Amino acid sequence: MARLSLNIDHVATLREARKAREPEPIGIALLAELAGVDGITVHLRQDRRHIQDRDLHWLRELIRTELNLEMAPVPEMVGLATKIKVDRATLVPENREEITTEGGIDCVSHKQLLAAVIDQLHSTGIPVSLFIDPDPLQVQAAKEIGADCIEINTARYSEARSLKAEEAEGKKIQEIASLAANTGLRVHAGHGLNYRNVTPIVRIPELQELSIGHSIIARSLFVGIWVAVQEMLKLVKG
Ligand code: PXP
Repeated sequence: MARLSLNIDHVATLREARKAREPEPIGIALLAELAGVDGITVHLRQDRRHIQDRDLHWLRELIRTELNLEMAPVPEMVGLATKIKVDRATLVPENREEITTEGGIDCVSHKQLLAAVIDQLHSTGIPVSLFIDPDPLQVQAAKEIGADCIEINTARYSEARSLKAEEAEGKKIQEIASLAANTGLRVHAGHGLNYRNVTPIVRIPELQELSIGHSIIARSLFVGIWVAVQEMLKLVKG
């Protein structure tokens, strides 16, 4: 049964739109934990456009489930992740102009850099996941450089314009999940998953965790975070 990690970046986005003091992401994280999520994910971006350093500190202090930090593979973030002792680091590419993470990290082209970052995080006991596109070469490189886990980028699946295209992308994710699990990597997935498209992904037996943010936080505006989380948990856990 897959675990659900709730990405709460969008709560901070709303707060930062006004540079105000609400809504506080920590409040949503605590309620989501009570509603049953297995973990909380945040992306501390170098430009601090949504999550702030103090959010990360509060989360580390107060949440009881797993704290997953999405981060660029840069010294500043490695320093913060190790200081705060996050439960897992997920390395993602970061482009200052993008609205959201646009693609997987390229482990083939950046093998040396990523291997060094993984070593640094491992030296303080932090397991590392790599957010990658569903490509066998990326899986192979992720394994070679010592990742513990991959998070398969489901953006193309989520953005598919037809059922046929969605099925084709879903099949690709299934194949990559199976390949990665066979090499001993843990397999997660996320990006753009929602209440409509999550079910075929949940059925992939190798998938151990889903990372979902936008659809749950958007739905919570209408039904509250408690109901939004429970509705997604019902789909993820059956
Ligand atoms: N995984 C990664 C690596 C991401 O960057 C994001 C978006 O911040 C997500 C999962 C969650 O995507 P969404 O907000 O579309 O559910």
